[in-house]
Amino acid sequence: MTQTITVIRGDGIGPEIMDATLHVLDSMQLGLRYEDADAGLMALEKHGELLPAATLESIRRNGIALKSPLTTPVGEGFSSINVALRRHFDLYANVRPAKSFPNTKSRFPDGIDLITVRENTEGAYIGEGQSITEDGETATLMQKVTRKGSERIVRYAFDLARRVGRKKITVVHKANILKTTSGLFLKVAREVAAQYPEIECNEMIVDNTCMQLVMRPEQFDVIVTTNLFGDIISDLCAGLVGGLGLAPGANIGVDAAIFEAVHGTAPDIAGQGLANPCALILGAGQMLDHLGRPDEATRLRKAVVATLEAKDALTPDLGGSGNTMSFAKAIAGRL
Ligand code: NAI
Repeated sequence: MTQTITVIRGDGIGPEIMDATLHVLDSMQLGLRYEDADAGLMALEKHGELLPAATLESIRRNGIALKSPLTTPVGEGFSSINVALRRHFDLYANVRPAKSFPNTKSRFPDGIDLITVRENTEGAYIGEGQSITEDGETATLMQKVTRKGSERIVRYAFDLARRVGRKKITVVHKANILKTTSGLFLKVAREVAAQYPEIECNEMIVDNTCMQLVMRPEQFDVIVTTNLFGDIISDLCAGLVGGLGLAPGANIGVDAAIFEAVHGTAPDIAGQGLANPCALILGAGQMLDHLGRPDEATRLRKAVVATLEAKDALTPDLGGSGNTMSFAKAIAGRL
């Protein structure tokens, strides 16, 4: 059956890594059809708006999107289109695997195989209720955590663990200080965990988690946490396994899912063919899993690992002298 996927080429290095990823997918002959849709700065230039209705409609119709990174200005300007997409489609589960890969500039070339499951629709990260006084001296932000939001993300993490044979979940929180918001998340997590007696569950405060991840990452299997903590922790995990160029992420809801790289638009290397396409390629692997094609997803991941093992056409972030498309072609050649 032909599956149509909404493709968002994004900003900065986005178009380059998308071309590379589609080259790899095409070489797998999966019968995928692509429907181009615009978002971000490119959409602003072409259509005068950052997130056109046609893009939302395409994702709604297809239920699946592959998305390159989008620019969000720092400290001022428009709000994040990524956050808007996650909220519009209620993509409540952000799933970010981090696995050791061969021949990466990593402190941990093996031993790491963890998944961060991050709540994607609530908490401080979504920037609700942001305001600043006229004199610019005092800024405020609302942080809302709900029982419903906490329960469904923790349940998602436990169901994922069950489905893929993971043994242990670490609930990451800051309930010692943030007694209401993080406190509610932890309370609900304990209730859900009791319904999965076969999966070990432990609790860890977020600052200690950061230290433990750097010193003994092999102790983690699945991490479940709130939005902002998950954002930071998953980049930390990407750093443990060789950098952002290798870190994919899935945003999953009931009716739609968007697959992407964890990294941003990398304006410092955009347009030079230097970007590592692996994160988005591995995001496409998560998409194949989601589409019920786990064998194809495994085939894709094995080709990435084999290319890293052979040190073939690696991009400069991995110490090679290849470029975005030559790296993708080397992966496609190993499928
Ligand atoms: P960034 O992830 O774009 O870049 C951080 C560093 O990692 C840079 O040195 C960059 O060159 C490098 N890097 C990132 N991806 C790479 C790749 N595939 N290959 C090789 N090197 C890579 O983060 P930054 O600079 O903080 O953000 C830039 C823009 O991206 C901002 O507007 C931010 O809001 C946006 N962003 C978008 C995301 C998304 O659309 N999902 C996620 C994160 C940031």
